Amino acid sequence: MDSARVTFVASGSPGGKTDWLIDRISAIVGGPLATAPRLARHDGVWLDTPPASTWVVRGVRSNIRYTTGREQQRLVAAQAELGRPTSTCAALIPIDKSDAWWALAQDERRAIFEDTSRHIAIGAEYLPRIARRLYHGRDIGAAFHFLTWFEYAPEDVGAFDELVGRLRETEEWRYVTREVDIRLTRSG
Ligand code: HEM
Repeated sequence: MDSARVTFVASGSPGGKTDWLIDRISAIVGGPLATAPRLARHDGVWLDTPPASTWVVRGVRSNIRYTTGREQQRLVAAQAELGRPTSTCAALIPIDKSDAWWALAQDERRAIFEDTSRHIAIGAEYLPRIARRLYHGRDIGAAFHFLTWFEYAPEDVGAFDELVGRLRETEEWRYVTREVDIRLTRSG
């Protein structure tokens, strides 16, 4: 058990504490992931050999890179925790960024991420309706650079669609080389 780790397992059978039904998988940029009926989110777990799976993606929670202290305080004050009983909808969006992005210096990435693209300012408009968690994968050689996870109530599906639509219009997203949008409904 390592609380920083996560393993998402897509499969045909139930498994995991919080089990989700996969409504659809859309390849936004780059290659898709195979369709499967269910997704289990094993938070705090690194499953080396998951039971029969269609695919597995892993990540780790990490330190913040671009958020200022002031921004962080505002986010913490506004954001909601995962696992709300009303959050019966979720999205898992694995993302890769280009070599050009990773070749930039830290200050150049921050400038694109927030000064130009306003990722945090846009995202903050959707708190606390959308609860979120970011996992990193690039430094551990995982299948994706990032796994982004979101939970929300059915009445906020439109707001979430609007949010991802606005982010996909930004300069930051020009560096996205792969994005798979997986929409889910809580089972049971
Ligand atoms: C719910 C509202 C959202 C808020 C408040 C938010 C906030 C943030 C913040 C503060 C960071 C920077 C963390 C750091 O300093 O390292 C971040 C990173 C990130 N977010 Fe969001 N975000 C939101 C929605 C989204 C959505 C909908 C997506 C995907 C479609 C997304 C994808 C990412 C990715 C990939 C990163 C990592 C960027 C990088 O390190 O290059 N975010 N987000």
